[in-house]
Amino acid sequence: MFRYLLFFCLISYGYSRLPSGYSDFYARHKLYYLSSIFVHYLNLTGAFEDCFNKYEFFGFFDLPCDMFNQNPQNITCMGYLMASVDDEAIIIVFMPTMSDLELHQEEYFYNMTMPFPGGGTVAKFWYNGFLILWNGGLRDAFFTAKNKYPNYELWVTGGSMGGCLASNAAAYISQMGFMDKSQIKMVSFGQTRVGDAVFAERYPNLVPYAYRIWYNNAMNEGDSYIECDEGESQNCSDQIPKNEWTWDDHKTYFNATGYICIKGNGSKI
Ligand SMILES: *[C@@H]1O[C@H](CO)[C@@H](O)[C@H](O)[C@H]1NC(C)=O
Ligand SMILES: *[C@@H]1O[C@H](CO)[C@@H](O)[C@H](O)[C@H]1NC(C)=O
Ligand SMILES: *[C@@H]1O[C@H](CO)[C@@H](O)[C@H](O)[C@H]1NC(C)=O
Ligand SMILES: *[C@@H]1O[C@H](CO)[C@@H](O)[C@H](O)[C@H]1NC(C)=O
Ligand SMILES: *[C@@H]1O[C@H](CO)[C@@H](O)[C@H](O)[C@H]1NC(C)=O
Ligand SMILES: *[C@@H]1O[C@H](CO)[C@@H](O)[C@H](O)[C@H]1NC(C)=O
Repeated sequence: MFRYLLFFCLISYGYSRLPSGYSDFYARHKLYYLSSIFVHYLNLTGAFEDCFNKYEFFGFFDLPCDMFNQNPQNITCMGYLMASVDDEAIIIVFMPTMSDLELHQEEYFYNMTMPFPGGGTVAKFWYNGFLILWNGGLRDAFFTAKNKYPNYELWVTGGSMGGCLASNAAAYISQMGFMDKSQIKMVSFGQTRVGDAVFAERYPNLVPYAYRIWYNNAMNEGDSYIECDEGESQNCSDQIPKNEWTWDDHKTYFNATGYICIKGNGSKI
């Protein structure tokens, strides 16, 4: 019985799906562009035209997410939801930090935490921010898209703060059973650590398609990278001394080739 089901899954969905491991092409030419830090977040239509032959947009959400002030204008969380018909994917993208005030709240109150459903503890700012977006329209957009495209997989992505929101979102959707974990892909760029060791240990089970990837080079097309499966591994970026860290490493991925979106076959490479 089990074999039958497995076989059915392979023939019905397998052919157009991504490979099970990390794909440079997929990260570079699809997701980084969609989540690109500091890029055209007000010109989504233009971005979608660059990336997809056929897509459907479900909503952009921009809501205050200050942890202390109920009526703020300056600290907001943003994300959008769309579906790529080409890629057979529902895509949720979260935006990065937009102001110094917001950055201050993320950094200064990093010590504030919340329990994550099912176990583990996460930093409050991003989890709270995700919940505000989720309850403020993203959930409805997600279920509208999922009802229309029930066989599509889910991609969740974002850069910097957007990556923190993305990692919370993918884990939450998996934990709540809103999407089978085998159908979820989470790719974040320059994400801060969002949870404690218990949360980190649960993560591969909640979201199997989420890898720590390290390129010890300029991230040009064809450059090598390693997958770091061990948390905080000295074999990976942890080996770089703090005095060599630069903001440019956080802001720029794929040495600008990530700003080239490629239509059509992203899900097949
Ligand atoms: C939006 O993006 C598209 C595609 O990149 C570009 O052609 C267009 O000029 C942009 N529009 C605006 C108003 O920036
Ligand atoms: C917060 O945003 C409001 C409205 O956009 C602006 O007038 C005010 O100066 C901002 N406050 C700070 C501290 O940046
Ligand atoms: C978190 O850190 C801030 C700033 O250092 C401090 O004011 C606050 O009391 C701390 N909160 C907790 C819960 O430790
Ligand atoms: C980044 O790409 C540009 C344009 O292709 C190239 O000229 C430059 O050498 C690359 N930077 C590095 C550090 O490889
Ligand atoms: C880290 O590198 C060392 C030396 O190359 C190797 O022996 C070890 O297996 C590596 N650890 C992991 C988790 O890859
Ligand atoms: C995918 O599309 C790109 C750009 O058109 C092309 O270079 C590449 O060969 C294609 N790959 C496959 C597997 O179709």
